[in-house]
Amino acid sequence: MMSSILQGAHILATGSAVPDLRVNNRHLSQVVETSDEWIVTRTGIKERRILDDKDESIIDLASLASARALKKVSMDPLEIDLIILATSSPNDLFGSASQLQAKIGADKAVAFDLTAACSGFVLALVTATQFIQNGSYTNILVVGADVLSKWTDWSDRSTCILFGDAAGAAILQACPKEKNGILGFQLNTDGRKYKQLSIPYEKDNETSYHQTLKITQGKFKYIKMDGKEVYKFAVSQVPISIMQCLDSLKISTSDIDWLLLHQANARILDAVAHKLSINSNKLISNLSKYGNTSAASIPLALDEALDNNTITSNDKIVISGFGAGLTWATIVIQWKC
Ligand code: UT7
Repeated sequence: MMSSILQGAHILATGSAVPDLRVNNRHLSQVVETSDEWIVTRTGIKERRILDDKDESIIDLASLASARALKKVSMDPLEIDLIILATSSPNDLFGSASQLQAKIGADKAVAFDLTAACSGFVLALVTATQFIQNGSYTNILVVGADVLSKWTDWSDRSTCILFGDAAGAAILQACPKEKNGILGFQLNTDGRKYKQLSIPYEKDNETSYHQTLKITQGKFKYIKMDGKEVYKFAVSQVPISIMQCLDSLKISTSDIDWLLLHQANARILDAVAHKLSINSNKLISNLSKYGNTSAASIPLALDEALDNNTITSNDKIVISGFGAGLTWATIVIQWKC
């Protein structure tokens, strides 16, 4: 895989942003029949952040996360060649990345959305890596952002306790081949199981605009999830994906410094680490504070782990996203600063 690259790629800086409003489990127990004890035991989540201000949108979170990443390396937004916004909750179905481009003043960047739910950030990182390693671009801003609170059925206790809103950003930059920090990846999709986790488009009653023109319309409603099936899928497929990726790179699990999984459920994180015989003290997790933030969960946790020096130079990190689609995606990186 690496022999054909024209130049290396590495993550130069990260940033993240969460809304101010904290909603803890006790708050939620006033909304649906649940308890702090149930949520903590079954998921590991204690609180989450929710975007409640009617004047704020996913773009505000995404631009703040991006600005923080740019500031860390004093990069001018005009140096960005491409922006990939991984989101499944855009504020415009035609795509929100162009709004992000305008808001941060990255006027020279091409910008597009990538929709792959909780695997979105990893897929966006892999996509960006291709543009860099084949020599097309030098600086790419990859953002994972979701505001699933807007698509949550707040009367459904099996889902509303899980999700939070956030954004995380990473600047990927070209570097000499010897300094390449994106070591390899492994991607999967199983569309036959898409109904296990979706925000389905639902038809309204038939709308007729004219005797001859009968058009049926509808709208997207709420998140629907078969939690048990998604749980089983994650615990069975993610370790296989990770092992395939590590084997292709001839890296053993004992060489891995950190395991950063999509922050869906503490039990899933522990079970995957256990299956891989990776000690749970190598798990990076901030799930208890933010819940499942979909495409934002991995860059949010990565940014925190870099800021508090958990991850240090030359550490090898296995990152896996999994969720709706169904999609699951692994990338192995080596941190080079
Ligand atoms: O981001 C994409 C990836 N998403 C995931 O990976 C999510 C994967 N799934 C999960 O994390 C877990 O399946 C959940 C956390 C969603 C649910 O945990 P569970 O241990 O699978 O619970 P369950 O759905 O089997 O429900 C067990 C019981 C049920 O009651 P009965 O039928 O046993 O009487 C539920 O009605 O818990 C009940 N229950 C609740 N009770 C209190 C479900 N939600 C709640 C709740 N509070 N919030």
